[in-house]
Amino acid sequence: MLQLIPDAEVERDYGCGDPTCRFRPGDRVLDLGSGSGKILFICSQVVGADGSVLGADRNPDMLSLSRQDALVMADAIGYGNVRFVEGAIEALDEQGHGAGQLVPDASIYIVLSN
Ligand SMILES: C[S@@+](CC[C@H](N)C(=O)[O-])C[C@H]1O[C@@H](n2cnc3c(N)ncnc32)[C@H](O)[C@@H]1O
Repeated sequence: MLQLIPDAEVERDYGCGDPTCRFRPGDRVLDLGSGSGKILFICSQVVGADGSVLGADRNPDMLSLSRQDALVMADAIGYGNVRFVEGAIEALDEQGHGAGQLVPDASIYIVLSN
């Protein structure tokens, strides 16, 4: 799972461990505090093209890194199943309404936070 992730991303590991053994192909995952995205990119491969991973982080610098690497990853694995939202975890459900909700109701099956 790490082989396809850019080296700089792997070396910039701010997480602890790898909880993605809990996920299954097709899962729709919300990653709270996705950071630069290492776990999110492992997860994206586990859930596959039929699944998706939404990363949420309040730090625009982290989001910038992960958004850049998302393009590299989509090329490497052949599909793009990740996207990102900027916001505070504790306020995600208050941001946006209707179709503009940051995390639409019933769009997530399982939550990750590493
Ligand atoms: C240790 S790093 C993330 C590591 C990443 N989950 C991984 O496993 O590679 C923690 C991240 O959580 C974000 N964060 C912390 N508290 C947050 C909050 N209340 N709302 C949104 N993001 C938060 C920080 O901006 C930071 O990018």
